[in-house]
Amino acid sequence: MAVLRIPDENQTITDPKAIAKYLSAIGIHYEQWEPAHVMAEDAPEEEVLETYADEIEKLKESGGYITADVIDVNPKTPNLEAMLAKFDREHWHDEDEVRFIIQGRGLFHIKPSQGPVVAIEVAAGDLIRVPRGTRHWFNLCGEREIRAIRLFQDAAGWTPRYTDSGVDKGYEPVCLGPQYIPSQPSKN
Ligand SMILES: [Fe+2]
Repeated sequence: MAVLRIPDENQTITDPKAIAKYLSAIGIHYEQWEPAHVMAEDAPEEEVLETYADEIEKLKESGGYITADVIDVNPKTPNLEAMLAKFDREHWHDEDEVRFIIQGRGLFHIKPSQGPVVAIEVAAGDLIRVPRGTRHWFNLCGEREIRAIRLFQDAAGWTPRYTDSGVDKGYEPVCLGPQYIPSQPSKN
């Protein structure tokens, strides 16, 4: 369940349609895939990609994406801090950042070209597409766990380009949605 906040305006939106509408106005595509497919939490990457093959194919066609993979991040991920530190400062990419969340949750901050900073908390069932060139940064929530399908137009393009604006320091990475509780120990 996604939660959208506009911290500078003390505004919070939880209705998925209203979230999609707000984000659309600043160029961010958001939708919920319902019903999400049922899978074991530790289903291997191949099974995840196979299970979501139809949805992935549609996305590839609509956005020119050529590859998909599954990213797993949790407290046992090696070098977790270093990995997170790459993305928690304002940056942009030469290609879209497309994530479909399967498990866990995370927090994108978007700095639109016009208008206030938006914090969008994404969880299982949420698809978000941050277009190339959009300024943004990303944090995990307290439980530090997320599993997501990623799509790429060109894997080489997905390199953070930092703005060093410092704008990210003005926003607390606060998550408001339900905490993710794994039903079984992570295998990693
Ligand atoms: Fe990014």
